[in-house]
Amino acid sequence: MPREAILPFINNIFVLLLKRLTGTAKTIKYSKGFVTFISTIIVKQIPRLEIETIVNIFDSFQPNLFSQLLSGVIIPNLKLMHTTFEKRVASVAMILLLSKEFMLQDIYLNHWGSLILELVNLVKISGVASKGDSQLLIEEEMYSLDADEKGYQSGFSKLSVIGKVKPDITLKYTDLNSNLKEVIINGSKKNPRVVEILNNVNELKPFLATLS
Ligand SMILES: *[C@@H]1O[C@H](CO)[C@@H](O)[C@H](O)[C@H]1NC(C)=O
Repeated sequence: MPREAILPFINNIFVLLLKRLTGTAKTIKYSKGFVTFISTIIVKQIPRLEIETIVNIFDSFQPNLFSQLLSGVIIPNLKLMHTTFEKRVASVAMILLLSKEFMLQDIYLNHWGSLILELVNLVKISGVASKGDSQLLIEEEMYSLDADEKGYQSGFSKLSVIGKVKPDITLKYTDLNSNLKEVIINGSKKNPRVVEILNNVNELKPFLATLS
C-alpha cells in the first residue's frame, strides 16, 4: 500500500491518540509511543501530510494544541527514547520540525530552549546510522499498548499502513550533530531571537560555543 493510504484515517487516528493521551489510562509507554508515532510520520514525509498539515490537524481540534503537545508531551519524553531507532527517528523529526518557518513564530520560539537542550543529548547518543536498527515495527509497539482496550484496536489497525519502517528511514541522515547545528544557524539568520533564547539556557552554553 502507498504511504498516502493513511490519509483518509489520519484525523481519526489523531483523535484516538489524543483521547488516550489525555485519558486516565495515560502511561509513560503511551506518551513515548505517541512521540515515536508523530516522529515517524514527520520523517516519512508523506505527500499531503507535511509537518504543517500535521500541525494544522491538531490545531483544528483546539487552538495551539500542537504547541501544547510539543511542550507537554513531545519534548519531555525525548529523554525516554530507548532504542537506537527511537532516538534517531525522534532526533531527525525534531530537526526537520525546527527547519520549518512556523517554528520561528513567537508561540513556538518559546520551545527552542528546551527542545534544543533535549536534542543535544539525544543526538549525542543516537549514534551513527546502522542497518541493524531498521527492524523496529511501529505498529507492533502501538498494538501492544492497547491490547487491553478493544475500542482502540480498529483505529490503531489503520496504523499498519505506515507501520513497517524498512528500510530505516533515518539512514540518510548521517550526521545529526551537524544537522542540528545547521538548523540553529539557519533559524538564527531568519530570527535573531533564536540566539537570544538559546543563550538564556545555561546548560546550552558549551554546545552553543561550538557553533561559532
Ligand atoms: C539550512 O539552510 C540551507 C539553505 O537554505 C538549506 O539548504 C539546509 O537544508 C538547511 N539546513 C537544515 C538542517 O535545515
